[in-house]
Amino acid sequence: MAEKYMENARVISQEQIADGIYSIWLEAEQIAGSAAPGQFVSVYSRDKSRMLPRPISICEADRDQGRIRLVYRVAGAGTAEFSRCDAGDVLELLGPLGNGFPLERCPAGKKAMLIGGGIGIPPLVQLAAGLEGDVLTVVGYRDEQFLTEELSRRGSFFFATESGRAGTKGNVLDCIRENGLKADVIYACGPAPMLRALKAYAAENKIECWVSMEERMACGIGACLACVCRSKEIDGHSQVHNKRICKDGPVFRAEEIEI
Ligand SMILES: Cc1cc2nc3c(=O)[nH]c(=O)nc-3n(C[C@H](O)[C@H](O)[C@H](O)COP(=O)(O)OP(=O)(O)OC[C@H]3O[C@@H](n4cnc5c(N)ncnc54)[C@H](O)[C@@H]3O)c2cc1C
Ligand code: FES
Repeated sequence: MAEKYMENARVISQEQIADGIYSIWLEAEQIAGSAAPGQFVSVYSRDKSRMLPRPISICEADRDQGRIRLVYRVAGAGTAEFSRCDAGDVLELLGPLGNGFPLERCPAGKKAMLIGGGIGIPPLVQLAAGLEGDVLTVVGYRDEQFLTEELSRRGSFFFATESGRAGTKGNVLDCIRENGLKADVIYACGPAPMLRALKAYAAENKIECWVSMEERMACGIGACLACVCRSKEIDGHSQVHNKRICKDGPVFRAEEIEI
């Protein structure tokens, strides 16, 4: 199994990039050196009354500079605390965790559709950079857009907004249909209803589909079973039809799991 590291990561910079959405760069040499697209880090609170770390996907990993970027929405007390960090502060991180996206499913000559919704959008930046094949990115925002420049770096970029303020009015599937988008393989990350709809769309259209599940977690390292989802196969750890999202995932072939 790939190595994971506990690092005291110094905050290089942090900025708010949309309403309630923050982008933070952290010095984390070991994690940056081994992170694969779709993996995440557990971020520990400095308030020891919040024991459980918060899982956040790696948005970008810069191996040469030994730093990683996280982009997150303030959802509750943990992420609110992270949003108050300034340059020079230190956050404890464990990572890289999880399996990451199977890059080999989109070699040169194939086309991938990267699909993200809300806080599932950030890991697509590192994924797009890591794929050899052609890339087409489709994302769905509630209203305000973020990471548009980064997501436009490779291939074509399409988006939907629920509010209809810009792009296609509606969700990512509305955007795919409106623009007649096609690909050989789908990689998706976002809320469960979006992943469920994409699983059905991929099955109907016979497209290989990989989904990253950003469900609630506790330990983050496979020990507590707080994050299980139902699977087709029997899990070697618990001997039931379960997969631990933190350890066996967060990326699964869509048809292997119940969403
Ligand atoms: C593998 C993985 C990767 C993730 N990557 C990112 C990321 O890149 N950017 C980002 O913004 N968030 C990401 N998340 C979600 C993030 O972990 C949670 O938003 C965070 O833990 C909330 O912590 P909190 O203390 O701020 O809020 P809490 O007080 O713990 O929760 C506040 C509210 O958010 C809800 N909530 C908590 N966790 C989740 C979750 N996982 N999914 C949906 N709702 C949740 C709670 O039910 C509650 O209503 C990821 C989650 C996982 C499992
Ligand atoms: S969060 Fe504990 S097993 Fe996944």
